[in-house]
Amino acid sequence: MKTSELRQKFLKFFESKGHQIVPSSSLVPHDDPTLLFTNAGMNQFKDVFLGFDKRAYTRATTAQKCVRAGGKHNDLENVGYTARHHTFFEMMGNFSFGDYFKQDAIKFAWEFLTSPQWLNIPAEKLLATVYADDDEAYNIWLNEIGLPPEKIIRIGDNKGSRYASDNFWQMGDTGPCGPCSEIFYDHGDHIWGGPPGSPEEDGDRFIEIWNCVFMQFNRDESGTMNPLPKPSVDTGMGLERMAAVMQHVHANYEIDLFQNLLKAAARETGTEFSMEVPSLKVIADHIRACAFLVADGVLPSNEGRGYVLRRIIRRAVRHGYKLGQKQAFFYKLVPDLVKEMGDAYPELKERQSQIEEALKNEETRFAQTLETGMALLENALSDGRKVLDGEIIFKLYDTYGFPYDLTADICRERGIDMDEAGFNREMEAQRARARAAQSFKADTQLAYDGQDTQFKGYTERQTQAKILALYKDSEPVNELNEGDNGAIVLDNTPFYAESGGQVGDVGYISADGNRFEVRDTQKIKAAVFGQFGVLVAGRLKVGDSVTAAIDNDIRDANMRNHSATHLMHRALREVLGTHVEQKGSLVTAEVTRFDISHPQPITAEEIAEVERRVNRAILANVEVSAEIMSMEDAQKAGAMMLFGEKYGDEVRVLKMGDFSTELCGGTHVHRTGDIGLFKIISESGIAAGIRRVEAITGMNALQWAQNQERLVKDIIAEVKAQTERDVLAKIQANAAHSKQLEKALSQAKGELAKHAGAQLLDNAKDLGQAKLVVAQIEAEAGALRDIVTDLTGKSDQAVVLLAAVNDGKIALCAGVSKPLTAKVKAGDLVKFVAEQVGGKGGGRPDLAQAGGSDTDKLPQALNSVEDWLGSKLA
Ligand code: ALA
Repeated sequence: MKTSELRQKFLKFFESKGHQIVPSSSLVPHDDPTLLFTNAGMNQFKDVFLGFDKRAYTRATTAQKCVRAGGKHNDLENVGYTARHHTFFEMMGNFSFGDYFKQDAIKFAWEFLTSPQWLNIPAEKLLATVYADDDEAYNIWLNEIGLPPEKIIRIGDNKGSRYASDNFWQMGDTGPCGPCSEIFYDHGDHIWGGPPGSPEEDGDRFIEIWNCVFMQFNRDESGTMNPLPKPSVDTGMGLERMAAVMQHVHANYEIDLFQNLLKAAARETGTEFSMEVPSLKVIADHIRACAFLVADGVLPSNEGRGYVLRRIIRRAVRHGYKLGQKQAFFYKLVPDLVKEMGDAYPELKERQSQIEEALKNEETRFAQTLETGMALLENALSDGRKVLDGEIIFKLYDTYGFPYDLTADICRERGIDMDEAGFNREMEAQRARARAAQSFKADTQLAYDGQDTQFKGYTERQTQAKILALYKDSEPVNELNEGDNGAIVLDNTPFYAESGGQVGDVGYISADGNRFEVRDTQKIKAAVFGQFGVLVAGRLKVGDSVTAAIDNDIRDANMRNHSATHLMHRALREVLGTHVEQKGSLVTAEVTRFDISHPQPITAEEIAEVERRVNRAILANVEVSAEIMSMEDAQKAGAMMLFGEKYGDEVRVLKMGDFSTELCGGTHVHRTGDIGLFKIISESGIAAGIRRVEAITGMNALQWAQNQERLVKDIIAEVKAQTERDVLAKIQANAAHSKQLEKALSQAKGELAKHAGAQLLDNAKDLGQAKLVVAQIEAEAGALRDIVTDLTGKSDQAVVLLAAVNDGKIALCAGVSKPLTAKVKAGDLVKFVAEQVGGKGGGRPDLAQAGGSDTDKLPQALNSVEDWLGSKLA
């Protein structure tokens, strides 16, 4: 049976059972911000289930387009590698809106699956699951369908919390939901796997083919399950996996529809057709998602739904590239798809040329960077590394348009891990740059082809220089005038350009009262430095002779922090172990931020020891020297290589006596004693296995100590302690005292409420058969229940309805003494009142709770209880 026939049969069957055939809704959910893409057949009927929308029919059936990529359900990374994961799939469904419930839902499913007139699947190939306490569904399977008990499996809350279960379906965190009953098909014992609920359930032998959801609740934001106006039914049958059953194959890619798309993918990539090539499966899968998304109005972009589409297209294109196809090919599969699915989904036919154009544009755009990006990646991987660093992943992302998951896909093929933490760090750094650029623009993409800059800043802080180029904003100009933002390139400079974690220098470039304030220094080419900032006085022209002078205080602070970083690096390895590797570094005038690989938090004692070692090295006041040597000699000298630097044949080796030897291009203090005090101020985890240590030096460390001292003094004054020593005892005593007070207060409240409760019973209205207590009381919502239980326990005849208003919200609680519950139900009573105050609720016959919001209507609602009760007792 062809897939298209199966789709038709399903719809026809349910039509014959009085269902309206309703077209699939768009993949872009309308008016539902809780969803990225339509992911189930019931999405379009959500409001009908909730009772907000009415249709002309109470039974419906659909073939629904679904996408599970990017949002809450994301199958993207598995596509191509498993038998059943898709970005796009079709869900067949039948729905009852307050019409039939469990019995017919199960009977219809069974008839369609097993009747010789319909699918004629042998009954012994099927088994069913039900939600653990759903006896009703269990008994239907047992007594009405005749399934043997060992083929009806109860599944409880197996996902960690109440209602979190394979047999309790919810659309999302909120919305319609309910217990469900699933039907499984046994593909036979030649395939590994066990029945649902068994340890082997994840195997491929028993496959879920049908899900009947008994929609009963609407879950709200607080997690409360509110009953739906009418119990309803939502079912889902995965078309592709069902087609596999009907075509006696196991994997979805073996069904007719996919075979044709796989052949098309092979044709367009010039590959021989084979089921063993995951790339062909990826392409065959992705063409469906991409074409349907474009048909529903999504276009590739850099955010939201558009970015999910872009990722899927680029992933497909990369797989084509892997098969050797360097030209645009993906869009050429659209006609094949239209042939397969255009009859069932006319929008594909109608928008075929738009779809082709959108895909072709995106392919062509990506082709411009794919090849260069791949070369960069190949080059990086050629050294046999096992982890791809975040910087490269980021560069591929940022410069070459490789979405993170695309690079991950390539790495996965080659068994290489991704440095996700490093990537996130780069992303964060980029965001920080973007934020900074909002107030100050440092665009390093400047056009320049003149001579290199000679860097003199290791030894000089002020130089005489000549202006080689000027930029206003990002445009080359001949002069900068007062107020202009821009950049200056000099023939030589004392300004250090950001690299190796150390930020760029700030300072001034000036000539005869003409003054440019340098706010940042960045390399605009490997050896060309751009001084970025604002012309604050006069004007400067290309060719002018100028004085370039860095800000000494800031540079000194940078140097102290940078040198301290080297000492800290060494001390961390000594104290924590040599597994510690530098994972990132940022040195500014304020702080040095140092990221290392280390599996657990660094303890207070370890931190103290690192601080001691670094400060000892500082007190030793050894000379800091830098020497240029060959890479070979540097390795012989045992130099540590610094993260993020590109090293040539000649390297700069930075040595601090016996304390540290590292390759480094940064600027450093002359002697370690120049660093002053070193203090670690924080330690935190930033990703699995990565710790971030922040430390300060010099005057910053002094200021930090002074602030701490002030803080302690303020605390002493606040808690009225006499000395520093007894401040802690004072705080502990205060906390213990507060606890005591809280306890006493809560006891007092309980006593008061009980007292009030007893009084209420004394004042109850005697209606002969019942004693009615109706009152609004001062109590927290949570306390009502205890008071009501107390009252109904004290009398055989009590009917109680208590209300409390807190923060504009009404809490209601009803109780009925057990002997009376045959006549009067607390659930009915609370509902009767709640409905009058804009709420709903329910519960047991003896105890029920509800909420409401219409406080104005509360007195009237409470008044109405007596008549209501009278009618019940009559
Ligand atoms: N809405 C149910 C599901 O997606 C049928 O499984």
